[in-house]
Amino acid sequence: MKQWKIGVMGGLGHIGLIQAACLAKLGNQVQAYDINQQRILGIREGKMPFYEPGLEELVQETTQKGLLKFTADIKDLADAEIIFICVGTPALPTGEADISQVYAAVLNVAQNREKPCVVAIKSTVPVGTSRGVTKYLEEHGLEERVTMVSNPEFLKEGAGVQDFWEPARIVVGSEIAEAGDKVANLYAPPGVPMIKTSWENSELIKYASNAFLATKISFINEIAQFCEKIGGDIKVISEGIGLDPRINPYFIEAGVGFSGPCLEKDLKSLINQFREAGQKANILEAVHKVNEEQRQGMIKKLEKQLGTLKDRNIGVLGMVFKAGTDDVRESHSLPILKNLLAKGAKVTVTDYSVKSFQEAGIPPEEYPGVQWVSSPYEAAQGKDGILILAAWPEYKNLDLHKLKKIMKTPLIVDGRNLFNPEELKDLGITYWGVGR
Ligand SMILES: NC(=O)c1ccc[n+]([C@@H]2O[C@H](COP(=O)([O-])OP(=O)(O)OC[C@H]3O[C@@H](n4cnc5c(N)ncnc54)[C@H](O)[C@@H]3O)[C@@H](O)[C@H]2O)c1
Repeated sequence: MKQWKIGVMGGLGHIGLIQAACLAKLGNQVQAYDINQQRILGIREGKMPFYEPGLEELVQETTQKGLLKFTADIKDLADAEIIFICVGTPALPTGEADISQVYAAVLNVAQNREKPCVVAIKSTVPVGTSRGVTKYLEEHGLEERVTMVSNPEFLKEGAGVQDFWEPARIVVGSEIAEAGDKVANLYAPPGVPMIKTSWENSELIKYASNAFLATKISFINEIAQFCEKIGGDIKVISEGIGLDPRINPYFIEAGVGFSGPCLEKDLKSLINQFREAGQKANILEAVHKVNEEQRQGMIKKLEKQLGTLKDRNIGVLGMVFKAGTDDVRESHSLPILKNLLAKGAKVTVTDYSVKSFQEAGIPPEEYPGVQWVSSPYEAAQGKDGILILAAWPEYKNLDLHKLKKIMKTPLIVDGRNLFNPEELKDLGITYWGVGR
């Protein structure tokens, strides 16, 4: 198998580092480029920028073999034949995706090389971006050096390495077939379904996939809200509908709603893209609205039980957007925390993988007075109520007798449905799950 010279822009980010390390494991020569010098210095000393199962070992192995290198010098990518763009595309306050990092990265590549290369965008970008970037390169007289390919990434944080080796599908959008084939053949495992299509279709497949997943979550959460009115049990309902193979059991677990670095931002971006195209996003708007209600529902349950939240002591268990990661970016816990503070509550937080706002890269001054502690019991000590916002196994295995003893009022509002309501009732704990 040919060993390619590969470059990864945003190579120290979640997607970029997984991509870089796995491509190096396949025997390619990979230069992971990033503008975050601190991360580069850190990883050269063996410090991973974030946690992802199996990634650290892979980085160690491939760097020791000299296949994976980290750089902040774009000239190190001058020989690369294929370059992946894995930079961030965060949401602007309008909901629109900010693609300035993508443009900056592609321009940087094109201006700093003589040889032609294929540039594949893995970042999630609005429909029309690959075409827009190509036009931009033409305007700068750089189109001879770069052939654009769209190659969206579908991996899940917490299972990113495994998803690289076992993708459900690979999607490649290109105008020039050989460029698309080069990217697809680089890492597609045998037998994996492959969709080769236009730039626009490829870009939209990514957004439509994430919007559909978000829709499933809001759908089940709306049914959960109804269960709470009629005394139903959403866990039984989910099981009952998930057994239908046309529905399947995935993403129909009721809870606090979706969040994190992808689903919510991509939904907002797609709504914005509809708006720009003059189309109303009826379903997508509703999906977003239900998700907002689900978050507010956590606070409403506390208020139902405690009356006002002013000066109430509340413990929050779980800050990450999803158990199994250390990623707090765009987590639902952040707006919930802001809401608690706005209502005058005194808040103590804990998480299994993250120990402070600084560690999570979140400005602490945005959450004045919030105290971090290291264990769920410390977070529950003397509290009027606790909120569970992440499904860490450690929370599911809490000693409930101990918890009841140390809390001022034994009240649990559980956004992850970790417990059996009957069992908690028998223990004398007031328990509010979601949809049951
Ligand atoms: N995180 C996920 O689970 C996931 C899954 C699928 C797709 N995506 C998409 O992948 C993209 C990257 O997401 P992420 O979570 O890896 O982001 P990230 O913030 O973890 O990483 C982005 C990296 O890009 C670097 N960077 C920024 N501007 C740069 C530039 N001009 N040149 C080089 N490096 C630059 C940053 O320093 C950072 O290390 C986004 O578009 C996201 O929507 C993410």
